[in-house]
Amino acid sequence: MAGRRAAITGWGAYVPEQVLSNQDLERMVDTSDEWIRERTGIRERRIAPPEIGCAEMGAEAARIAMRRAGVQPGEVDIIVVATATPDRLLPATACDLQALLGAHNAAAFDISAACTGFIYALGVAEGLLVARRADIALVVSTEKMSGITDWSDRSTCVLFGDGAGAAVLRRSANGRGIVSLFTRSDGTLAELLWRPGGGVKLPMDARVLEERLHLVKMAGREVFKAAVRSMAEAADQALVRAGLTADEISLLIPHQANIRIIESTARYANIPMEKVYVNVDRYGNMSSATLPVALDEALEEGRIRPGDHILLVAFGAGFTWGSAVLRW
Ligand code: ACO
Repeated sequence: MAGRRAAITGWGAYVPEQVLSNQDLERMVDTSDEWIRERTGIRERRIAPPEIGCAEMGAEAARIAMRRAGVQPGEVDIIVVATATPDRLLPATACDLQALLGAHNAAAFDISAACTGFIYALGVAEGLLVARRADIALVVSTEKMSGITDWSDRSTCVLFGDGAGAAVLRRSANGRGIVSLFTRSDGTLAELLWRPGGGVKLPMDARVLEERLHLVKMAGREVFKAAVRSMAEAADQALVRAGLTADEISLLIPHQANIRIIESTARYANIPMEKVYVNVDRYGNMSSATLPVALDEALEEGRIRPGDHILLVAFGAGFTWGSAVLRW
């Protein structure tokens, strides 16, 4: 397989400075720190200021990833941005990010796969690298969830946070890289987690604004069940396709939406919690950015060593779900 894999050679993360704690939320809606911690595992999340969008957050993470990879902006061939919260509907956030980085030789585009966006984007970048349509790819997941959150809805506003993560990918010549990757969608369940208004089908007007149809609506319990089911399937699929067993995985990095979903994914995959990376307590659900931010932190904390196999698993609106095994 040497030379036929795409590997992450640089990683970076950015979260805004401002912390919104559960205690802060107690003053905004009818909720409690105890309820939020017990049901979700979240203690606090980060919120970006009005002037900072997804392109700015993504550019911060991307600069760190490029520096670690030893890559100059002009060397990047392809920029894939995964986001559920684009800065504008047109053009792509990836183009704004390209301009901020000065990556003038790159083709830049967004993909929309909600919380599974990082896995989808890795798959797209891997395909382009292995097909030799690109030599250096930049994958960025960047989410300003605070901008699409209904701050009067206690059932959703306690869950989300802002942040960005990035990865530089190149073809590897030593077996390192993406060993397996699995993605799936089910559009029949779209309305369980969505923003009904603001697109061309239900354009932004006074009613959309008044009824808050441009903000996230979620049937929490149904989403919870689908997440548990789909992440279990995704974990299985990545392992089977990689030809590995659970005990050969050094670290599971699951999408960070809810500690109970994380624990259930680990239990199903037969991976003990000591081998699971968790930071949902500090950041909440940053949609597609949860995986690359967790990957960055795990690497910087020395929890991943050369030769390790890491399992990434995610689930999100769409529904979309997916997984990947990386050999580090
Ligand atoms: N504070 C206090 N009480 C609350 C709050 C809150 N913030 N939110 C809801 N409640 C109440 C409800 O009104 C309900 O009250 P009732 O029994 O009097 O009707 C009670 O708590 C239980 O509500 P449930 O929705 O049944 O609570 P549940 O145990 O399912 O937890 C939660 C809710 C945390 C949202 C859970 O369903 C969940 O995590 N779902 C998945 C969410 C998720 O992960 N989404 C994102 C995945 S995809 C992506 O990342 C985009």
